[in-house]
Amino acid sequence: MDMKAPRKIRDELIFWLRDAYSMERGMEEMLVKHFGAHKDNSDVQKARIAHLAHTRQHVRTIESLLNSLGSRTPVIESGFIMTEALRIVSESLSHDESIKDLLTCCAMEHFEVACYKTVITAARAAHLPYVDEACQKIILDEEKMAHTIDAIIPKAVENFLTGG
Ligand SMILES: [Fe+2]
Ligand SMILES: [Fe+2]
Repeated sequence: MDMKAPRKIRDELIFWLRDAYSMERGMEEMLVKHFGAHKDNSDVQKARIAHLAHTRQHVRTIESLLNSLGSRTPVIESGFIMTEALRIVSESLSHDESIKDLLTCCAMEHFEVACYKTVITAARAAHLPYVDEACQKIILDEEKMAHTIDAIIPKAVENFLTGG
């Protein structure tokens, strides 16, 4: 199987990094919104604050990767559309706000992991190890948040069912 020309692979990598930038900006907005909507001191709120700091770092990392490849950050931020789309899906799964937000967040974190795996594969094909390494580091934060939310969901559902 022939690979695309190196220039073309680099262009695809830039395209996906720009999508990742939009996605991270969408995540940043979503985490701020979820934090503001739930005024409590629960583990999930603490996780949101910690992951918001990571997400802002991801935004800066992707921005510097794009700059290193001679590209700017995108103006069209499709990540916002993505979080809204997942929100609509979670609306159909629960009518409880806190569970809806957990489902949206959980889906987004897993989606982020999948996106970075795409970027990593393209970075390897483009022989850009620093992009590969930066995205592997980001994936660790996304997986940590996904596991945290995964672990919180059963308790949140129990609380909802018992009126707690
Ligand atoms: Fe992220
Ligand atoms: Fe994330």
